[in-house]
Amino acid sequence: MQFENTLAFAQQMDANDPLKAYRNQFYLPSFTDKPVVYFTGNSLGLQPKSTKEYILKELDEWAKYGVEGHFLAEKPWFSYHEFLSAKAAKIVGAQEKEVVITHSLSTNIHLLMVSFYQPKGKRTKILCEAKAFPSDQYILQTQVKFHGLDPDTTIVEIAPRSGEHLINEEDIYAKIAELGDELALVMIGGVNYYSGQLFDMKMITEKGHAVGAKVGFDLAHAAGNIDVKLHDWNVDFAAWCTYKYLNSSPGGVSGLFVHEKHLKDKTLNRFGGWWGHDKKVRFLMEPDFQPMETAEAWQLSNAPIIGMAAHLASLDMFAEVGMEKLCTKRDLLTGYLEFTIDEVSKMYGEKCSFEIISSRDKSKRGAQLSMLVHGEAKKLFDYLTAEGVIADWREPNVIRMAPVPLYNSFEDIYRFGQILSKAL
Ligand SMILES: Cc1ncc(COP(=O)(O)O)c(C=O)c1O
Repeated sequence: MQFENTLAFAQQMDANDPLKAYRNQFYLPSFTDKPVVYFTGNSLGLQPKSTKEYILKELDEWAKYGVEGHFLAEKPWFSYHEFLSAKAAKIVGAQEKEVVITHSLSTNIHLLMVSFYQPKGKRTKILCEAKAFPSDQYILQTQVKFHGLDPDTTIVEIAPRSGEHLINEEDIYAKIAELGDELALVMIGGVNYYSGQLFDMKMITEKGHAVGAKVGFDLAHAAGNIDVKLHDWNVDFAAWCTYKYLNSSPGGVSGLFVHEKHLKDKTLNRFGGWWGHDKKVRFLMEPDFQPMETAEAWQLSNAPIIGMAAHLASLDMFAEVGMEKLCTKRDLLTGYLEFTIDEVSKMYGEKCSFEIISSRDKSKRGAQLSMLVHGEAKKLFDYLTAEGVIADWREPNVIRMAPVPLYNSFEDIYRFGQILSKAL
């Protein structure tokens, strides 16, 4: 695609966009006097206009039925999560029984690690990426301590090579081979939150399994952004939040995946709760825990229906669009953002004070571009914000931006380029 840094080109791209109608199905923020360019769908996705209707429906059911809504509501709350599983499974390339929507992301990673991080003998180590999201780092550290081990010697981080911003995947594979039978678990963010780097999850899974380790992914920045195939890639487990690319409300419910091959394994450790107990006999209230033979077994509590309703509104939209079309537009939008930043850089030559640290290869990234700013980084960010660009600041000097195919336009990107140029 030959991009052009003109308003006419951006508008033509929008006119030809098969997903253009979806922008109007979202509320675009209106809190500033400047028209907003929203590039933070990688932090909190925008609100679909349909969300209110899905939530109001459940509030009405609650008003009408009280507790009986668990069985009499149109979508009975007892099994409300079942209305979400197949649609969520499609987004991450899983079978319906391998997915459940429940709890929040950090909680789900902990619960999955209870099952899939079982250090024994010399097989204790966890391999993860350097600069993982802080919650992931705290999860790994506290899980390791929970097993009486020392995080400093048990957690092995892979960092970019000196002078580079992205991790060389060969280094991950080499470290997996080197750790060999000491490696218990590979746990990586499918897309790194800081650099936007997309890892080859299929290959990492293969390499991890080859030395006898389990492999899991935090898909916070991948779900709804990347075409993931968890089942076919043979991934052991994964979890994701739904409030970023999946637009399902602040702090909204999370998804978790457990591969079919583990679903009947009674030897797995787990922390149980009544909602993971066999639903056919759940209300017999018997004392012994009988986990279901689906991912539902990892549920602890009855479902938070209001948050689930917000997620269902979004899942219905994703089911209508499909990941394929989203990914096609994503590559065009992010490619156009990359082109626009490069054009502004060219105009300013030596004076230009930023560089894209995300991959230049579109098969190694999703929607996000991270821009490292040299010099007065925070001043540039504050200027962009004052001009209506909602981007994301990461200490010490990175601005993350993610144009989102469902609601961002090519004109948004053109306007961003004009503002960036003015800032310089
Ligand atoms: C990669 C990653 N992991 C974990 C989390 C924590 O999510 P939560 O607060 O929903 O548990 C986030 C939040 O943004 C994240 O980006």
